[in-house]
Amino acid sequence: MTRRAKVTVHTLRHMKGEGHKIVVLTAYDHPTALIEDRAGVDVILVGDSLGNVVLGYENTLPVTMEEIIHHARAVARARPRALTVGDMPFMSYQAGVSDAVRNAGRLVKEGGMEAVKLEGGRRMESAIRAIVDAAIPVMGHLGLTPQSVHQFGGYRVQGRDADAAQHLIDDARFLESCGCFAMVLEGMPWPVARQITEAVSIPTIGIGAGPHCDGQVLVVNDLLGMNEEFAPRFVKRYAEVGRTMAEAFAAYAADVRDGRFPDLDHSYPSE
Ligand code: KIV
Repeated sequence: MTRRAKVTVHTLRHMKGEGHKIVVLTAYDHPTALIEDRAGVDVILVGDSLGNVVLGYENTLPVTMEEIIHHARAVARARPRALTVGDMPFMSYQAGVSDAVRNAGRLVKEGGMEAVKLEGGRRMESAIRAIVDAAIPVMGHLGLTPQSVHQFGGYRVQGRDADAAQHLIDDARFLESCGCFAMVLEGMPWPVARQITEAVSIPTIGIGAGPHCDGQVLVVNDLLGMNEEFAPRFVKRYAEVGRTMAEAFAAYAADVRDGRFPDLDHSYPSE
């Protein structure tokens, strides 16, 4: 069987040029990364959504470098054809340029990632430029950036009025000028995301940003329906894995309690 060529940052730019949509999905562990890669996902993002969906934190803010590196390594061991991107946790790049470069470098050297993602536009100029100068590809992230949840006063769609929309468009042009290879557009009205996508030559990857971006990202747990209570407008569920797991666990518990498992078919006879 021929294996398709490795996805690089150049592949993504080419895909935008050709009008091919870019498929991005988060993963936090080795088996999920393998399955996503076999399914032909283009980019695997080890997102700091790790905090909410895997580690049980209330938001992404407590995620540490050690935690994201631990999960990035598990994903990198899948040696995916997909491009791997590691998220820079809150306060791993905001406090100073040398922190930003060192921590981006850790995601590559220790986490095995091929690129990093960080949140923010012009206010992150020095960090972005320094990481790009260190030859580490940077994916930007604009709009409803979850690490700013307290500044936003909650998870609110950004760019709703003309000034706020223009601010996002200017930030997007700025990210392109800094050498970012792509950017996530999260939680913004679809006309704004469309304007940004038309204004920049690098790919835009949407989440809660409508149908006109160059690609789409979802948190894998949301796509799979792992958490039945979490059903925001921007998520489309492709499975009800949370319900399936609950049913399987309950069936197992009933079998054990009632003596149906293990039976002799699942036991070793003597020679
Ligand atoms: O952390 C994450 O999973 C993300 C995506 C939702 C873009 O940043």
